[in-house]
Amino acid sequence: MLMHDFEQVIERRGTECKKYDTYPADVLPLWIADTDFKCPQPIVDALVARAQHGIFGYPINAITFNRAVARWQMERFGWEVKDNWVEYTNAVMPAIIYAIKTFSQPGDQVLIQCPVYPPFHRAILDNGRFIVNNQLLLVGDQYQIDFEDLEAKLKQPRTRVMVLCHPHNPVGKAFTREELLRIGELCAKHHVLVVVDEIHQDILYQGHRHYPFASLSDTNRDNSITCVNPSKTFNIAGFRTGAAIIPNPAVRELFSECVINHKAYGRTTFGTLSLEVAYNECGYYADQLMQYLQGNLDFMLEFFEKHIPRIRVIRPQATYLIWLDCRALGLVPKELSTLLLETAKVALNDGDSFGPGGAGFMRINIACRRATLAEALQRIRKAVDSVPGAERSTQPIGFVRP
Ligand SMILES: Cc1ncc(COP(=O)(O)O)c(C=O)c1O
Repeated sequence: MLMHDFEQVIERRGTECKKYDTYPADVLPLWIADTDFKCPQPIVDALVARAQHGIFGYPINAITFNRAVARWQMERFGWEVKDNWVEYTNAVMPAIIYAIKTFSQPGDQVLIQCPVYPPFHRAILDNGRFIVNNQLLLVGDQYQIDFEDLEAKLKQPRTRVMVLCHPHNPVGKAFTREELLRIGELCAKHHVLVVVDEIHQDILYQGHRHYPFASLSDTNRDNSITCVNPSKTFNIAGFRTGAAIIPNPAVRELFSECVINHKAYGRTTFGTLSLEVAYNECGYYADQLMQYLQGNLDFMLEFFEKHIPRIRVIRPQATYLIWLDCRALGLVPKELSTLLLETAKVALNDGDSFGPGGAGFMRINIACRRATLAEALQRIRKAVDSVPGAERSTQPIGFVRP
C-alpha cells in the first residue's frame, strides 16, 4: 500500500498561496481551509504525465468523471449514486449559488444555521435573497439543532432553500442519521429544497461517521442537491472542480439549465483529472490523513487543557477546522483578533465573521505538521497569559432577519 508522509516539510510561501502569502513571514497561518500536506503522489504523477502531452484544448465531458464521483460515495459511505445524477460544477460555492438562483427568487429567504461558513451568507445576500437563521445552540460542549425554531422558519412562505453544512464548518458537527432524517422530513413538508454541502465528508474523527444526507430516505433523496469536492481531503482546491449529486430528474434539469445559462459547464483538464485520480485511487491517503489529523487533534486538546484552560475547545466530530470558545478571556472580537494576530503572530479566522453566535470564538485549522501546530499553540499560550483574568461580556453582532 502507498504511504504518505504528512511530516514532509514543503515551503508554501512564494507559491501564490493565499494561506501563507497573505501574511508577513513572522505570522503562522492556520486559517483558510486547505492543508499544508502535499497531495497524493498518484495525482501528481497523473498531472505530470498529462502535462507532458502538451496539448490542452477543450476537454470532452467524459463519463469517467461521473463514475469517479459515484464510486467514492459507494466505497466510503455505501451510497449508490447513479452516474447520471452527477453534474460537474466549478467547485462547491458556485454550485450552491446556482441552486439558490434556480430554486428561489430575489426577495425570498434562504435558511442557514449560524455560526456558519461566511461565503454562505454572501452567496445569499449578494444574490438578493434574505438570510433566515436557525441558530445552532451550544448545549454543554456540543452544538444542537433547535428543531422547533427550524420548523417555524421553514414554514415561513418565502423560505425556499436550506443550505445545510454537513459536516458543519465551523462547529465541527457531524449530523446524526436521526437529525438528517428530521431535517429532511421538515424541509419536504414545507417545500424547502435542501442544498447539502458535504465538502468535509471525509474528515471524521474516531467514533463518528458521515451519513450522506440524500442516502438516508427517499424523501431526502428527492428533495436535495449534494455538493462535493475532493479539495479539502486531497489539498487540491486550486483546481476549482467539484460535483453536484442530484437524484431527482426534475431538480437536476433545472439546476443544469442554470449551469448552462452561466456557461459554467466547461470542465478543466487538470481539475477533472485530479478529481478522478483522487476518487479512484487515493482512498489510502484519506485514511492516513485522518490518522494524522486525529493525532493533531489529541495533541491540541491536551495542550489547551493543560496550558490554555481559559480557551475552551469545542471538541469536533468532523473537519480540521476547530472552533475555539475564547469568551472567558473577556475580549471584544477586535481585541481578540488583535491578540492572536499581533501579539501571538498566528492567523486564525475571527469567530464573528461566521455570523450570530460567533463573537468571542476563533477558528483554527489543524491540517498542518504537528511541529507547526505546536509552535502556534505555544504562541497562543504566551499571548493568552498576557491577558488579565477579569471577564467582560461579548455581544454577538446580529445582521440576520429574526
Ligand atoms: C463548508 C465549505 N463549503 C465550501 C467551501 C469552499 O468550497 P469550494 O472551494 O469548492 O467553492 C469551503 C471551504 O472552506 C467550506 O468549508
